[in-house]
Amino acid sequence: MTRVFDEDLHARIATQAIHAGQRPDPTTGAIMPPIYQTSTYVQDALGVHKGYEYARGKNPTREALERNVATLEGGRHGFAFSSGMGCIDSLMKLFKAGDHIVCGENVYGGTFRLFDKILRHFGLTFSFVDTRDPQRIEDACTAQTAGILIETPTNPLMRLTDLRATAEIAKRRQLLLIVDNTFATPVFQRPLEIGAHIVFHSSTKYLNGHSDMIGGIAVVLEDALADRIQFIANAAGAVPGPFDAWLCLRGTKTLPLRMRQHDANGRRVAEWLAARVGEAQVFYPGLASHPQHALAKTQMGGFGGMVSVEMGTKERAALILGRARTFSFAESLGGVESLISHPASMTHASVESARRAELGITEGLIRLSCGVEDVDDLLADLEQMFHGV
Ligand SMILES: Cc1ncc(COP(=O)(O)O)c(C=O)c1O
Repeated sequence: MTRVFDEDLHARIATQAIHAGQRPDPTTGAIMPPIYQTSTYVQDALGVHKGYEYARGKNPTREALERNVATLEGGRHGFAFSSGMGCIDSLMKLFKAGDHIVCGENVYGGTFRLFDKILRHFGLTFSFVDTRDPQRIEDACTAQTAGILIETPTNPLMRLTDLRATAEIAKRRQLLLIVDNTFATPVFQRPLEIGAHIVFHSSTKYLNGHSDMIGGIAVVLEDALADRIQFIANAAGAVPGPFDAWLCLRGTKTLPLRMRQHDANGRRVAEWLAARVGEAQVFYPGLASHPQHALAKTQMGGFGGMVSVEMGTKERAALILGRARTFSFAESLGGVESLISHPASMTHASVESARRAELGITEGLIRLSCGVEDVDDLLADLEQMFHGV
């Protein structure tokens, strides 16, 4: 495997991750921003206050997180939300009835469900296309198209979208390009630097990294766009509580450190699986056999800890999942602990079975989120899980 870790990028953001957006509390010197557990702020006089009026609009703990992640993503403004889905829902309020959005066909099942089962009824229209080929994005655009939403790598098939080619289409057609960077994180992928307008995360995953909160966050460069998102965040109110913001902020401090280990473990696990079941059955952009490995090397500084493997049948998948010990059988991803899951019945259950089959999310597909445990323990667990299968 080539170019597994971009050391220059890592060096650039390791310090930012710990310090950006935070300063010692002016009252006490507390090194961690306090959890401002308040709904309102006392004002000095009519029209005179300290910049804070009501906590749906602004909260200092949340602001520290927003500034921190905005810096990590190379953006200027961050907006934290109560969940990844709350974030996407709020971002969709940038559009209006009649607008058309081109969306990756292989996005997280919950994203598809939100668009297909809810937002369609509000007059937004969507085309779900295979964004591995940028021409398909171009072909799907109509006079009504106002935005493109992509996830790269995708969940769970680890398919990539060419960020540069997509940004070029968005620029030429004046469309809003929105990128879900949950899997790669700013440690490995920098969509804003490549021309995306909005990058967002389910911060439940790698940004928090400890499986102890649910959250979302969006980052932008442009001031005017930031004003619109701030307005939506306050008006629609899908904001996180200060404790969840604080937990996420604690997580982002070690994001570069953790991603290094997720990447190292993901690589070893992918190699082990490829040797065990054959390269063609393993989906990991860091494997030379991945059909988009060349693209991965141009737009990713590392490949991360997410690996999927096709086991052929539900029975074989169930046998393996049932034996997991160091890996835990659970939804979600991106925490320090390794997880193993069955996308067809878990994360992508909301996608109809015929559609899942078309996409390649089969009953035999298993997804692994490689944590930061000792890799030999992970490989030993895989060894016993795959024994005789
Ligand atoms: C890539 C991706 N985007 C968005 C989401 C939704 O985030 P949340 O679960 O925090 O609402 C998820 C959740 O699994 C995800 O994996």
